[in-house]
Amino acid sequence: MTDSIESRLQEARRQLAQHGQQDLLRFAEQLSAAQLEELLADINRLDLPLIDELIEGFLKAQPSAQLPDKILPPPVYPIEPSAELAPKYQQALEEGQKLIAEGKVAAFAVAGGMGTRLNFDGPKGLLPATPVRKKVLFEVFADSIRAAQKRYGGVIAWYIMTSPANHETTKQAFEEKNYFGLEADNVVFFQQGMIPCFDQEGKILLAEPHRIALSPDGHGGSLRALHRSFALEDMARRRIEYISYFQVDNPLVKVIDPLFIGLHALDQAQMSSKAVMKEDPEEKVGVLVLGDGKVRVIEYSDLPRSLAQQRNDEGRLTYELGSVAIHIINRSFVEKINAHGFSLPWHRAQKRVPYVDTHGQVVDPQEPNAVKLETFVFDALPLADVSIILAIERAEEFAPIKNAAGADSPESSRRLQIERAARWLEKAGADVPRRPDRTIDAALEISPLFALDVEELAQKGPLLPPIEPGGSIYIE
Ligand code: UTP
Repeated sequence: MTDSIESRLQEARRQLAQHGQQDLLRFAEQLSAAQLEELLADINRLDLPLIDELIEGFLKAQPSAQLPDKILPPPVYPIEPSAELAPKYQQALEEGQKLIAEGKVAAFAVAGGMGTRLNFDGPKGLLPATPVRKKVLFEVFADSIRAAQKRYGGVIAWYIMTSPANHETTKQAFEEKNYFGLEADNVVFFQQGMIPCFDQEGKILLAEPHRIALSPDGHGGSLRALHRSFALEDMARRRIEYISYFQVDNPLVKVIDPLFIGLHALDQAQMSSKAVMKEDPEEKVGVLVLGDGKVRVIEYSDLPRSLAQQRNDEGRLTYELGSVAIHIINRSFVEKINAHGFSLPWHRAQKRVPYVDTHGQVVDPQEPNAVKLETFVFDALPLADVSIILAIERAEEFAPIKNAAGADSPESSRRLQIERAARWLEKAGADVPRRPDRTIDAALEISPLFALDVEELAQKGPLLPPIEPGGSIYIE
C-alpha cells in the first residue's frame, strides 16, 4: 500500500468512525489497491452528516406523517364535463393542442427505479409489455410520442431519467433500436442521485467487499436531478414550458394529453395531477386531498381510517381521488424550487438488496432485508401555488406493472391493455369475439400510430380487419 493510500484509508476510518459506519472498511486489508481506490471513492461521495440526519429522522423510526390540520376533498375536473364546464374543456383541449404544436410540452419518463418486485433482468423500460407485438415499454411511449407529433405537429422532446444502475443499458438499447423511430436528438437521458442502502440498524450495506450498496433516491429525486443535470437547461434552450411526467411502468398512460395540459395551463397551475376513483377504501393508493388549503397526496397508510371510509351524500368515498403518478409540471416551477432550495420528506421501504455478509460473501436475499430511503415526486405538490386535478377513467389510462405475478403484473397489465383495445374496437363498430362469460377471446393490440384514442379509431372503423375467435391481431 502506498503512503498516499494508507493515509487516505486512515482518514476514511477516522471519518466513518465518527458516524458509526467504520464497518464499511472491514475488508480493506483484503482488497487490491484498485479495489481499495474504488471503495475510498465510494466513501468520499457519502454525505455523512446528511446520512446521520436521515438515519435519525427517517430510518430508525419513520416519523408519523405530518397530517394537515384541515383536510377536505379537493376540487377536481370530472371525467365528463358538466354543461357548464364543457366550453372550458373545449378551450383547454385547443390550448393544449396549441402548446404541443408549438413544442412547449416535453414528455418525461422516470425510469430510474430498480424494479425489485418485478424480478426482470434489466431496466423495466425494456420489459416486453404489449399483448401481441410484445413491444417493450419504451417503444410503447415512443410510438405514442410519434403519433402525437403526427397529430398535433411540432416536436415533442422526450426526457428519460435513469439511474447509474441502468443508464448505460438503457441508452444502449435506444441506440440499438434506432431510438424506436424518434430523432436521437430529441431523446435526452439524465441520471438521478443515489443514496446508500442500510441494514435495520442504520449501518450502510456493502454490495461487494469494495463497493457500497447504493440505490436511486426515489422519483422525487427527479426534481433535483432535472436541475443538477443539464436537462432543465436543455428544456429552456428548446423553449419547453410544460413537463408531462409519467412512470415507465404504465403502458396505458397518455404520454401527451392536450386536455390535461390545457386545463393546467388555463388555470396557471405549476404542478397538477391525474386521479382515478377509489372504490375500495382499503385500496393501497395515495389519496389526493386539500390539506390546509393545498392539494397534496396522503399515503394510504397515513390516511386516518375514519376519513378513508367516509362517504358523501351520493354514497361515494369522500376521499376517492387515487393518485396515479401522472403530472404536468412547469419547467419554471422546477427551476424555482431548486433556486430557493427545497427538501422532500424521505420515506422508508423494506427492499431486497444484495449485500456482503460478515464473511465477505455476497448474499442475494429472497426476502426484503434492507431499508431504502426514497423521496416521492407528489410530495412537491404543496409547493405549488396552484395545482389542479383531472379525474380519469382508470381502465383507459392505468395498467401498472409492478410485480412478477398477480395484481399489477405483466399479465394483469396485458389483460387491461386487451380490454381497452376491445372497448375501443367495439365502439368503432368492430365485432370482438367474446367467450360465454364475456371475457375476450383474442389478443388485441392497437398501434398508437393507427389510433391514439377511441375517437380516432372510430374514424378508421371501415379500415378495421375482422377479428377471429382465438386470434391475435395487431392493428397498425
Ligand atoms: P416504484 O416506486 O414502483 O419503484 O417506481 P420501482 O423501482 O420501479 O420498483 P420496486 O419498488 O423496486 O419494485 C415507480 C416509478 O418511479 C420510477 C420507476 O422507474 C417507476 O417508473 N423511479 C422509482 C425512479 O425513476 N427512481 C427511483 O428512485 C424510484
